[in-house]
Amino acid sequence: MNYGYFDKENNEYVVTRPDTPTPWINYLGQGKYGGIISATAGGYSFYKDPRNCRVTRYRYNGVPMDRPGRYIYIRDQETGEYFSPSWNPVQKDLDCYECRHGLGYTRITGGLKGIEGSTTYFVPIGKDFEIWRFLLKNKSNRKRILRIFTYAEFCFFDAVMDQQNVDWVQQIMRCQFKNNIIYFHRYDEIHGFSFFFKVGKMHSYDCGRDQFLGLYGDEGKPLALEKGECSNSEIFRANGVAATCLEVELDPAEEKEFLYFLGKVDRREDAVKIQKTYGNSKSVDVMWRELNEYWKEFISHFHADTPDEKMNLMLNTWNQYQNMVTFDWSRFVSMYQLGIARGLGTRDSNQDTLGVMHTIPEETKKLIIRLLKIQFPEGDSYHQFFPLTGKGDGKGFSDDHLWYILSVSAYLKETGNMGFLEEIVPFADGEGSASVYEHLFRAVNFSMNKRIGPNELPLIGKADWNDTLNLDKGKGKAESIFTANLLGVALQEMSEIAYQLGKEGDAENYEEWYSQMKNRVNEVAWDGEWYIRAFDDFGGKIGSVSSKKGKFYLNAQSWSVLSGFAEKKRAIQIMDLVYERLNTPHGIILFEPPYEGYDKKIGGTTTYPPGAKENSGIFCHANPWAVIAETILRRGDRAFMYYSQILPPKWNEKADSFEIEPYVYCQNILGRHHPQFGLGRNSWLTGTAAWNFVAGVYYILGIRPHYDS
Ligand code: NOJ
Repeated sequence: MNYGYFDKENNEYVVTRPDTPTPWINYLGQGKYGGIISATAGGYSFYKDPRNCRVTRYRYNGVPMDRPGRYIYIRDQETGEYFSPSWNPVQKDLDCYECRHGLGYTRITGGLKGIEGSTTYFVPIGKDFEIWRFLLKNKSNRKRILRIFTYAEFCFFDAVMDQQNVDWVQQIMRCQFKNNIIYFHRYDEIHGFSFFFKVGKMHSYDCGRDQFLGLYGDEGKPLALEKGECSNSEIFRANGVAATCLEVELDPAEEKEFLYFLGKVDRREDAVKIQKTYGNSKSVDVMWRELNEYWKEFISHFHADTPDEKMNLMLNTWNQYQNMVTFDWSRFVSMYQLGIARGLGTRDSNQDTLGVMHTIPEETKKLIIRLLKIQFPEGDSYHQFFPLTGKGDGKGFSDDHLWYILSVSAYLKETGNMGFLEEIVPFADGEGSASVYEHLFRAVNFSMNKRIGPNELPLIGKADWNDTLNLDKGKGKAESIFTANLLGVALQEMSEIAYQLGKEGDAENYEEWYSQMKNRVNEVAWDGEWYIRAFDDFGGKIGSVSSKKGKFYLNAQSWSVLSGFAEKKRAIQIMDLVYERLNTPHGIILFEPPYEGYDKKIGGTTTYPPGAKENSGIFCHANPWAVIAETILRRGDRAFMYYSQILPPKWNEKADSFEIEPYVYCQNILGRHHPQFGLGRNSWLTGTAAWNFVAGVYYILGIRPHYDS
């Protein structure tokens, strides 16, 4: 079954059925003001930081699914019948429906009994508000009298408090109508104002949720729609909403446009200014054009015409677009990441820069600097930071700091701006500062010399790339082969950087460290047939020929090829085993056999049932590393097969089995040991995006920047 198609010409995915198996979403905005929007207008908005500055509310995992959102209702005044052109929340059987998810915008069109409404939602470039551009058409052959309602539910700025301290939040919030604008704000006016307005006159409005929906009402059958008007409510506590009503008469074939603005400002006057400056069709036209030009330019930096249509679709449009979304939001906010717990991750965001390096290198540099600011003078770093506060959070992962070297070296190769290495960047906790080069040196030095275990391999700490491999049980002895390999890659990059800078002594030192690490890995981690994945806290091997479960791990093999630690013969042997033991038609699983039941020595992995996520699921992020390893071994056909296996468009005609969007990569697909083998999960925010782009462009097509070419 399919729920839509790719419109290649317009770089859009067109959803043709609203009842998608999960909400199929798009992102609005460019990393500051923005939000997510589903194909039925569900979703919410935030300003810079979905945790600390949320604008509208969303009920994750609620019933009914995907509520609330940015809603428009059309009411026929003759009959009192009403519908939503986005199908939700009213869910009337529409005569026509389509949602076009495009680059930076979503347009949803729906019609019933001769009336059609089409809303284009977008955030203009560089602005802190969104526009709902609503076009209403009378396709019938008689005059129609209609009322148009809008509805969005405001959220307390701090999204955690919004759920935790309901009495406090509701006592201090107000929602009022002034200057034709609905403002939602704290009584003390700290934290500014969320606002909503309709351009021009309207019939009535509501600022109170109960007043619009009715007590015990819901978005699908609001009291205001039943009555045919809003009640001009303002509220001095409780839940604020942005509801408006207008009346319009349309002759046959006549159409009219209405404009709505939603956003966040510091002062009331700023919203008035927006209303005066941008609240007209001409300005909206200009902003719309700017948005389209921005994205046209964005994807123009890379274009490939390969014989494979799916590869073209992804590389030329959707993969590049997703790379930008992961660059903006890391693993922070999606349909599956609630925009509360995780900010921008050191590990994740450093990897995300790889996908946009060819497009916006100077913006990636800025993000890299923000990430370097959460590095400690010792060389390790916080795990993540929150964009509004810049505050770091979490520590003790073995790999976080090593990803800096990959992002910085990618930046240097792309731009040739070696001067970046001399820029001075402070460390976390205000403990001094150092050049970028020194930051990088400290990162490799930390893993090489400071956090070394009994086998002289990097300690795993809380975890490595695999968050759920929690082997340190308090002895501080567990070691990661993954991190050893990542260190190998980082050391090679460091020696190249040092040569570029004419620091030959440094380069030789990095090479020496590289050889030492290579020897250690080959001496202690080679298990006769393949590389083990880790040593646990008691000296036991994880991913060993002698293990009963979790015997053979993908990353331990692919990364030893990436690092060059595996010499040719071993490299071929282990990558053949990857194919034989781990490959499936839907992607490569992380290891086999899966663990069955909780094992406290292993930790998080074993909380999952066999075949799910890190317990032997297809963790898509790890697949491109096997692609790259195969290209290094010059086995292009196998590399391309691995690459293609996880291409989302392949699911378009079987969308019911995959469930999630066929236009973006997902984090994981249930593996062959799971009864729902092939089901995709956790779409959009995943390192798969940047890495499958790198695997496709840099390695399969072989187009990658070097320092001198
Ligand atoms: C998702 C996390 O965002 C990422 O940092 C991690 O590497 C993978 N899970 C694997 O555990």
